[in-house]
Amino acid sequence: MTNFRKRMKVSSSGKSLVILANDLDENRVDKLETRTLSNIKNLNKHICAIKLNFHLILPLGNKSLEKINRAAHDVGLQTIADLKLNDIGSTNKIAVERLWDCGFDAVIANPIMGSENLRELVKFVHKSDHGLITLVHMSHPGAKLGYGLRVQDYTGNMLMLYELFLKWSYSLRVDGIVVGATVPELIASCRKKIKGNCEIYSPGVGTQGGDPKKTLDAGANYLIIGRTILDSSNPVYHARKLQQLTLKS
Ligand code: XMP
Repeated sequence: MTNFRKRMKVSSSGKSLVILANDLDENRVDKLETRTLSNIKNLNKHICAIKLNFHLILPLGNKSLEKINRAAHDVGLQTIADLKLNDIGSTNKIAVERLWDCGFDAVIANPIMGSENLRELVKFVHKSDHGLITLVHMSHPGAKLGYGLRVQDYTGNMLMLYELFLKWSYSLRVDGIVVGATVPELIASCRKKIKGNCEIYSPGVGTQGGDPKKTLDAGANYLIIGRTILDSSNPVYHARKLQQLTLKS
């Protein structure tokens, strides 16, 4: 098992399978940092990791991101950068190096870059004990229009695009795959194929319609949750409720 997978196990075991998607709709840059630090302070007992998206990564500089990553690590959380990275090898490398400089533990990438680029990226990410999580099937309503496309791989086999992404992801030994909570039947079929070789990260719970219990029962290892917690009148209460649910399953 890779070191990032081990660190996720340590931060979640017996505690929580909830990853906070810290997607703040905030246009004041100074507030982005303070609100994130207070989310870490108030919610860390109920979550195992925090995922930062473009909401923060675009406006904040290195110093702020370093401070946020340090604060998360100090309370035992792992940190994931959700770039859905998808570029040529040299650009991917520079992007992840900048993320590691800021203290992130892992990055989310899009396998549409092709299996050769993905292989190179996995190798590069693992060299420094970081983690790579790949999109297999997204959670939003139109996701199947892309991820469900029928494609032909280079051996002539016809399959769905997400099946190809899944095949590449587990054969190249990524640390985790993203499959939306809105498609629990796909989570179950991915689980059968990957067995215990990587974890399933599932966004789309709550606001997007996914049911947390069904998602975990289908085989997801972690739930990525943003607005259901952050937009509620009592984020700590909702985070605790979701935490308890993940501990029961
Ligand atoms: P909500 O507010 O819907 O936030 O709980 C979900 C978070 O997860 C991201 N998201 C995805 N990220 N693959 C990903 O890598 C997906 O299929 C996917 N669906 C949602 C979203 O950007 C937000 O940060």
